[in-house]
Parts: sequence; C-alpha cells; structure tokens
Amino acid sequence: MSDTDILLLGQVLDFAANPFDCPPEDAARHERRGAVLIRDGKIAAVGAAESLRAEYPRARIEDHGEGLILPGFVDAHAHYPQTAVIASWGKRLIDWLNSYVFPEEARFGDPAHAQEIAESYLDLLLAHGTTSVASFCTIHPGSVDAIFAAAEARGMAVVAGKTCMDRNAPEGLRDTPQSAYDDSKALLERWHGRGRAVYAVTPRFSPTSTPEQLAALGALWAEHPECPMQTHLSEQTDEVAWVADLHPEHRDYLDTYEAHGLLGPGAMFGHAIWLTERERAQLREHSAALIHCPTSNTFIGSGLFDTARAMAEGQTVGLATDTGGGSSFSMLHTMASAYEIGQLSGTALHPAQLLWLATEGSARAMRMQDRIGTLGVGSDADILVLDLASTPAILQRHARAETIWEAVFPTIMMGDDRAVQAVYVAGRRLLPRPEGLHSRSMAPILARSLGLDG
Ligand code: GUN
Ligand code: ZN
Repeated sequence: MSDTDILLLGQVLDFAANPFDCPPEDAARHERRGAVLIRDGKIAAVGAAESLRAEYPRARIEDHGEGLILPGFVDAHAHYPQTAVIASWGKRLIDWLNSYVFPEEARFGDPAHAQEIAESYLDLLLAHGTTSVASFCTIHPGSVDAIFAAAEARGMAVVAGKTCMDRNAPEGLRDTPQSAYDDSKALLERWHGRGRAVYAVTPRFSPTSTPEQLAALGALWAEHPECPMQTHLSEQTDEVAWVADLHPEHRDYLDTYEAHGLLGPGAMFGHAIWLTERERAQLREHSAALIHCPTSNTFIGSGLFDTARAMAEGQTVGLATDTGGGSSFSMLHTMASAYEIGQLSGTALHPAQLLWLATEGSARAMRMQDRIGTLGVGSDADILVLDLASTPAILQRHARAETIWEAVFPTIMMGDDRAVQAVYVAGRRLLPRPEGLHSRSMAPILARSLGLDG
C-alpha cells in the first residue's frame, strides 16, 4: 500500500492479444465498470472497479464516469519541426519538401524557435491524447535538444533524432557524413536513456543522404543497436524512380539502406507503400517496422498502404500522423483515415484493430511495448480517457450503440481533441489543467495568430 496510489474509474479497454491474429473482439478486454491503479508512475493493477476499490481502500479515486480509459496514443512517425507548415496546399512529395518543409526546417538553427515549436507541438499532442511520438528533428543538433527538453519537462517518453541530409537539400540544411555521425553520436550519448528519452538514428531518406552518409549512420547504429533507426521508404512512385536513377547499382529502394547496415530489428520505415516482393520479404525477415501514415498518404497523394495485407504477411506495423505531411495531429483522425484506406483496399479494419495499431502496435514498432502502448501491469502510466459522446453528432450516434465497438467507432471516425477527457503521463495528470503547461506554451502562438503580440 502506498499513500500516492491513484485509482482511475471508468470503462477500461485493453488488449490481451493482437486483434489481427484472432477475432478482434476476442483480443480485447473491456471492463464496463473498470479501474486502473497507478502507483509511482506505473500501472500497478487493472480490473473491475468494485474489486480494486476493495483491495486499495486508501487510493485516491479519480472517477471518469462513462469515460473510456485506454493507453495513451502512440504516434510512430512525425516531424515536429513541420508543425507550423501542416496543411500546406497543392504539392506532391518532392515539391512539397522544397516549397514548404525545407524553408521551415531552416528556421530551426535558432534554438528559441526550436524550443517554442517543440513545446507547442508536445502540448498539441497531449491535447489530442497522444502521449508518445517518434519524431524526426532537423539537421540542427539544437532541434533535438529542444524536443527532448520539452518532453522531459512534461515527463513524456519521446523518440527523436537529428535528421541527417548531405545532398539534394538547400544550403544551410546539409551536413556531411562525418558531422552527421559525430553530431548524432553526441546527441545519442547526451539523451538516450536520460529519463524516458530514446534516441533514434535518423537519415531522412536515400535521396538526401549520400552512400557515405548512410554508411556512417549504419556504423553508428551498429555501435548502438539498442536505439531505433527511423527513415522513409517508398512513399511516392516519383521518389522510388528517383532512387532507382540515383542508385542503379542497388536492387531496389530498401537495398540502399540494407547495403549500409540500416535494416534490422528496430528499423522504422515511414510509408513503405510501393514495395517489391523482395523488399516485403526482407522487411519481414529482419523484423523491421512499416509505419502507416494514412492522412499523409492521402494528403500528399502518395498511395494506399494495405494494412490487412501487411499484417497477414507478418509485418510489424505502426500507425502515425506524419505531421506535417499528415493533415492532423490526432490519432483519432489517423485511425479514421486508416479505416477509409482499408475500405478502398477491400478490408474494413475493426475498431479493435484500429485502437490496437494506435497504441500497442505503434509501441511494438518502436520496440517500447514493455513501457508504453498498453495497460499492462508494470508499464508506465501513460493513460488517455476518451469521452465517447464529445459532440452532438457523436452523441446522437453513440446513443444507438449496443456494443463497446459501436460505442467507440463514432469517436474514431468523427472525434477530435474534444473527445480527450483526461491525459496522464507517467501517472501525472497533465490534462485537463486550466493554467498548466498547455496554456502557457501555446500562448505565444495563439497571441500571434490573434494579432495580440504587438
Ligand atoms: N520523405 C523525406 N522527407 C519527408 C518528410 O519530411 N515528410 C514525408 N512525408 N516524406 C518525406
Ligand atoms: Zn515522414
């Protein structure tokens, strides 16, 4: 017994199995009147409210009523420096990078800018119920310090790495093979394992890294196999053709990474839409993760990722927003988009499968499922409470629901940050808090957009 025990009451939803491996309803555990016990920032017990109340009579009760208690969302691929250019109109991948992304990323040489965006970004994530993210940074080491410092201040488990580029990027946004190695190594040594920080070796993608740079980062990853590696793979057909032009000596796009030691367990490949059979087999064989970024794939016009096929062939799949290529910070929107893309590919993904992808699936892709993405006992208490009737439109549909899946699906399809009833990070309640971190760091941005900053 501990005086700091907190007992959350509400409906509880968690997974005992992978809902792609069995009937989805059988994989889920739903407790209509459930409870989660938090002790010392970790999940200490999960069960029926009545029995946990009896077992822990001194715990402080936080009653969320009809709210749905589940693990905080995990976003397996994003670019926090693109926060301010989300929803930029009219371009496909390469033009979009050159027109919108690179000019914005150039601003991250200024540590004050990096800090402001990093803080606002993490507050936006929390407001949308996302408690962990794997984010790219920019080539500037200060951009990595900014996101890890902001995550540390909030107690969040964030995966991040310096985005390395030494070609096909503008002046000021290029490093070298040696500086990419040295800077990444120094950042890894500074941050990896400090509190909840996880460093990811991060070449942006083959078109912007010379073979020498990929080899240098492959060498760094070999020295630190405990770290994840994140990059992009086969997002658009023009990009795949460009890689083939740049590298006729390689068998395919994946081979440009594989040849330099950048394929293995802990590798996370964003998008991975236009794959050959060889690439699919290699990805599976090496236990690499494919990260599905559905709102980005429709927004930038990339293509349809076939989730059901990837899961059936035994791939590791995570789900992600890919902001700012993705058009939303919300993992609810991301699940809705994954559902719609599934429909276009011939499979209606079950709400249990969508929720699993947005939590445990992404955590598995990041190899962090022992710490985040589930309500498993011993896991860090990163917890989200969803209001399943958060708007009039959702409420009236929810009123007809006869099962938990009918109750939750309208929120998946139509919900947004208004559905986020409460958020706990490592057992600490961060939202809602009227005058806490959230409103403070969003203030400069809101003031500027309202013309209040002079
Ligand atoms: N490929 C290389 N860089 C990027 C990026 O920033 N966003 C997306 N969506 N794809 C990329
Ligand atoms: Zn990306």
